[in-house]
Amino acid sequence: TERSFIAIKPDGVARNLVGEIIARFERKGFVLVGLKQIVPTADLAKSHYAEHAERPFFGGLVSFITSGPVVAMVWEGKGVIAAARALIGATNPLASAPGTIRGDLAIDVGRNIIHGSDSVDSAKREIALWFAETELLATATPNPHIYEPRN
Ligand code: GTP
Ligand code: MG
Repeated sequence: TERSFIAIKPDGVARNLVGEIIARFERKGFVLVGLKQIVPTADLAKSHYAEHAERPFFGGLVSFITSGPVVAMVWEGKGVIAAARALIGATNPLASAPGTIRGDLAIDVGRNIIHGSDSVDSAKREIALWFAETELLATATPNPHIYEPRN
């Protein structure tokens, strides 16, 4: 099984989309193994988005992500990293398909309401950055209504 770091950004929280977004992951069948609401420090935001440090939008991205509460989550399940990216949709919400979170709920790239890890390595890095091991549940027993046995 697999884990992904998912964060509802300050715009998603301010727009009262937390329940809507969590419901989509729950309905898919993924398991929530970590959850907290925090206002990220600038250090945390810069480490989280370190790969974009040289981009022109970096300053705005860091100031936006630290501007209010973020709902930080770890979701678990088969293929969750790629599946969460598919549920989330393309970076630019106007290019995200209807049915995706960004496609249904957002317009501007700088207000795209949610983050999802883009690879196994970034998921591991981001989970360790945002959560202590003690804040995460143990791996869930697969629900037989969602998973066939032994695959
Ligand atoms: P995350 O899940 O947030 O990492 O989004 P992503 O993986 O779909 O996109 P990427 O990692 O390339 O960019 C990270 C974030 O930077 C995006 O979610 C946007 O909020 C922001 N961003 C990316 N490109 C632009 C841009 O061209 N302009 C602005 N203003 N923001 C951008
Ligand atoms: Mg990204």
